[in-house]
Amino acid sequence: MQHARAGRLISDLLVSNEAAAEIRVHGIGAFLLQHFRLMAEDSEQEQARLARLAARTGLIAACCTGLAMLITFGSLGWLLWTGVMALSVGGTAVIAIRTGSNALDNLVRQVNFMYEEALFVGDLDRISAEATERAIPAGGAPLPECIESVRFKNVTFTYPGDDQPALRGLDLTIPAGKIVALVGRNGCGKTTTSKLLAGLYLPDDGHVLLGGVSTAEADRHALFSRVALVSQDYYRWPFTARANITIGRPEAPITDDWLDDAVQYADAHPIIDDMPRGLDTLLARGYKGGHNLSGGQWQKLAIARARYRAGDILVVDEPTTSLDAESEQDVFNKIRDLAATGQTIVLITHRLHSVRHADLIYYLDDRQVTEYGSFADLMDPDVTPAGRFRASYDLQRRQFQPDTAQQLPPAPSADSPPPTPRS
Ligand SMILES: Nc1ncnc2c1ncn2[C@@H]1O[C@H](COP(=O)(O)OP(=O)(O)OP(=O)(O)O)[C@@H](O)[C@H]1O
Ligand SMILES: [Mg+2]
Repeated sequence: MQHARAGRLISDLLVSNEAAAEIRVHGIGAFLLQHFRLMAEDSEQEQARLARLAARTGLIAACCTGLAMLITFGSLGWLLWTGVMALSVGGTAVIAIRTGSNALDNLVRQVNFMYEEALFVGDLDRISAEATERAIPAGGAPLPECIESVRFKNVTFTYPGDDQPALRGLDLTIPAGKIVALVGRNGCGKTTTSKLLAGLYLPDDGHVLLGGVSTAEADRHALFSRVALVSQDYYRWPFTARANITIGRPEAPITDDWLDDAVQYADAHPIIDDMPRGLDTLLARGYKGGHNLSGGQWQKLAIARARYRAGDILVVDEPTTSLDAESEQDVFNKIRDLAATGQTIVLITHRLHSVRHADLIYYLDDRQVTEYGSFADLMDPDVTPAGRFRASYDLQRRQFQPDTAQQLPPAPSADSPPPTPRS
């Protein structure tokens, strides 16, 4: 089954639109085909083994059946021959034996069928029990009207199947109405922290408290309604541009003012104006009239969606990775404006210059907070040796410094001749 599924996955990849460019440019087609063949051969070998086993079992069963029939009809013939049994009784016995053996045959088939189905039912049962165990419970404690802060208290979380925790004894506080930045190296647990805050996961140990109510006890649907999320892996809905934004609040009636505000906020109006049918343009290439967007344009729609949702806590995980310099600056300015209106912002980013205006910065390392404070605290030159935040910030800053620029060819002066085009 594993190999058959892997084969199906590879054959889907071979015809997938998203993978097509890399498959062609990197010549991955032959590599995928080779793996598909390996998977198919393994699966075929296993099927052949099972077929041989079934044939052997069938042969033994047929021999036993034949032998039983021989003994039965032999005995019947002997009884008739010796006159122990009347001919009419013998005829009835033949009919009874044939009906009985058909019924027995049917019974064996049904038992076999039941056994095979029971394996699937067993799997379904196990999966249902696991789904119930992991289901987000309905009901629970209400959240306070005004959430004064979000606190992570000694939170440990391990993804199912992983042997290492993604977060280990994490402690942090996110005060309401402030911009709190989470920074740190890849894999240090920033996205996991945001998902725990949003109630998507529950901690294995410790508590995530929203206004004093633990996410494990809170009404999780009420919790979701307080959070707007621009996740790192935001989804590109194959619907219209309008639906891609308003899906942020699917239960609320669509209001044009609100929609317009979200579009303006994300600076997405030039994109919408350029689309053949404006907000009603279908963003799914596989359908008639379907249109596609660039990575940065999709990201702006995701930001508009989060704005449309208008949760008390806005979590933005790498919101500007695909944006041009101007749009990036614009997004950060708008995030700052939002905090001025009292919204709580959790900003996750690797662009350290953009956290200068955060009220509080947490630096995560080795799955826990190792440094925190304001930008000025973390950049304090009197603190030696420099912390990880300051070292990372300086590393990024040096990329823009003159000594790097000096290695570049000099900019042309007004009297220098025009550059010669290269062939
Ligand atoms: N869905 C998942 N299943 C299993 N392990 C996961 C999953 N998502 C993340 N992890 C693991 O948890 C750890 C923390 O991941 P996380 O995504 O929180 O890091 P991050 O700080 O957001 O990294 P990045 O800066 O690259 O986005 C990593 O070691 C990662 O391998
Ligand atoms: Mg991440």
